[in-house]
Amino acid sequence: MKLLIMGRPGAGKGTQAANIKEYYHIPHISTGDMFRAALKNQTKLGLVAKEYMDKGLLVPDEVTIGIVQERLLEDDCKEGFLLDGFPRTIVQAEALEKFLKANGIVLDAVLDINVPVDILVNRMVGRRVCKGCGATYHVEFNAPKVEGVCDVCGTKLIQRADDTYETAQNRLEVYDKQTAPLLEFYAERNLLKTVDGNQSLEKVFEDIKAVLGA
Ligand code: AP5
Ligand code: MG
Ligand code: ZN
Repeated sequence: MKLLIMGRPGAGKGTQAANIKEYYHIPHISTGDMFRAALKNQTKLGLVAKEYMDKGLLVPDEVTIGIVQERLLEDDCKEGFLLDGFPRTIVQAEALEKFLKANGIVLDAVLDINVPVDILVNRMVGRRVCKGCGATYHVEFNAPKVEGVCDVCGTKLIQRADDTYETAQNRLEVYDKQTAPLLEFYAERNLLKTVDGNQSLEKVFEDIKAVLGA
């Protein structure tokens, strides 16, 4: 399975990616996670990305495209992969298309997790993530068994730096301007599969499996 997962900030891409990764045994490649890992390690990439992420802006295409291409050439992507949060601009989508073609890789589908914009700020502001294993929770919709502690590994949960009310609003605006046009791009290529993301976490995953023919 070679998949892209799209959707507005907070739509549930990361949450569903964890399910898809387990079900299809494919690596989950999230550019947001890659930037956050780089920042944790204080690399130059991480420090550059932080400047943009903290404002809710996109990291420049020339930085982002390179790291994804490098990652897709690793051995574990041979049988499949799930790209989350990339591409996010037409320039990135065109670069990806060219790269895939050059390497004889064919995408199976582009999933779009569709959630109405008015409920998304709440999803982002209430999100908590595990510092240890990266598991994602929500204080209201997907609470851990013990408040502030990861069910999976017992590590403390934190809030993402870009999950403030103001930055979340910016991210949604940036999505509309720069990323939404990609839906048309992939619809034209007959790859787009839209799933209603305004349902329970379990139901969204059932629908994903159904559109993928599982
Ligand atoms: P990134 O990390 O990709 O953030 P994003 O697109 O804003 O998406 P999120 O991770 O916020 O949302 P999600 O859809 O994964 O939702 P989740 O599953 O966590 O990117 C961050 C930044 O990095 C960007 O702003 C940019 O600066 C930079 N960047 C990344 N990629 C880039 C690129 N290609 N080019 C340039 N810059 C790039 O769920 C959200 C919450 O909702 C959670 O609390 C979850 O528990 C809850 N939830 C999930 N599903 C449900 C449900 N069905 N019902 C109720 N609650 C739910
Ligand atoms: Mg995410
Ligand atoms: Zn954890």
